[in-house]
Amino acid sequence: MSGALRSRVIGCGSYLPQRVVSNDELAKTVDTSDEWIIERTGIRQRHIAADEQKTSDLATEAAKAALAHAGVDVSEVGLIVVATATPDDTFPAVATQVQRKLGITHGAAFDVQAVCSGFIYALTVADAMVRAGQAKVALVIGAETFSRILDWEDRTTCVLFGDGAGAVVLRAEEASNIHTDHGVLASRLHSDGRYRDMLYVDGGPSSTRTTGFLRMKGREVFRHAVENLASVVGEVLDEAGFEPKDIDWVVPHQANRRILESTAKKLGLSMDRVVMTVDRHANTSAASVPLALDAAVKDGRIKSGDLLMLEAMGGGFTWGGALVRWG
Ligand code: COA
Repeated sequence: MSGALRSRVIGCGSYLPQRVVSNDELAKTVDTSDEWIIERTGIRQRHIAADEQKTSDLATEAAKAALAHAGVDVSEVGLIVVATATPDDTFPAVATQVQRKLGITHGAAFDVQAVCSGFIYALTVADAMVRAGQAKVALVIGAETFSRILDWEDRTTCVLFGDGAGAVVLRAEEASNIHTDHGVLASRLHSDGRYRDMLYVDGGPSSTRTTGFLRMKGREVFRHAVENLASVVGEVLDEAGFEPKDIDWVVPHQANRRILESTAKKLGLSMDRVVMTVDRHANTSAASVPLALDAAVKDGRIKSGDLLMLEAMGGGFTWGGALVRWG
């Protein structure tokens, strides 16, 4: 290939652990209720990984499903990027264990850590590497077992999260025209470490030598999320030369129904253009965007040629958006 390259997104897949935990089940162990959780968040249930399931197991299942959907053999994969904040172990990277489980011994595999924005970060990094000629086919995976870092006695956080994994396959193609090409058309990443204390885990290898538990100032996170997401979506559209009305589907990070509604309103987009899975999956951090994408592709809502805006915000703070022409 000689000219500029574009990363076409040629398939997607996902995996959810079998065990489903309802709000009513949580209300047996913490002082909460199905009504409170649904009203404040839109969440009805979440999937929780089995004790023996690690993040790399969830990621590998999602990767296999995405490769099958794309019709790509594992031997073609030259790059694996996994977005996760809940790796199996402090090291090695989950991506190397996905590589091992898929039976791949060539190419590169590494993790990206941007918490709930992780998938947008991983997609942006993988897209840049594909366009730079580092790999022709890349697997981009978001996978989390957030159930392992939740304080199950803290009702303000434990009701909000779930486990799962989602993946996409990228393939290098000649770029032609940003208005007609399929694939990743533009993306933007941001971070601001001053907001560390709003959303963090109170442990880690270099601070406490423990894993720690997730802590969050929910109200502040909410306010920043709506501002930051609406602004990054605008930036990505400007960069690519599109307008909000051109978007067929917003595929947002699934943290809270009210964040999705407020962001859509700020952008002047109707909610029937927003893919919502938070009711079934809760917040699965880096897995939530590819899980939502896979749900809407597999149920036929997202079709080849549709213009998608993927966006997310997470701890750090980190946030970002990516514009993708599907299929
Ligand atoms: N069940 C019942 N009551 C609960 C509860 C629960 N699970 N969690 C909190 N409460 C209580 C609080 O203790 C508080 O009680 P008080 O008024 O007696 O002190 C009351 O509900 C209101 O709490 P508040 O935190 O102000 O509620 P809220 O409307 O802001 O909703 C969140 C809380 C967490 C749902 C909301 O702030 C949110 O979604 N924030 C964004 C979080 C997020 O998405 N983070 C991830 C981004 S990646």
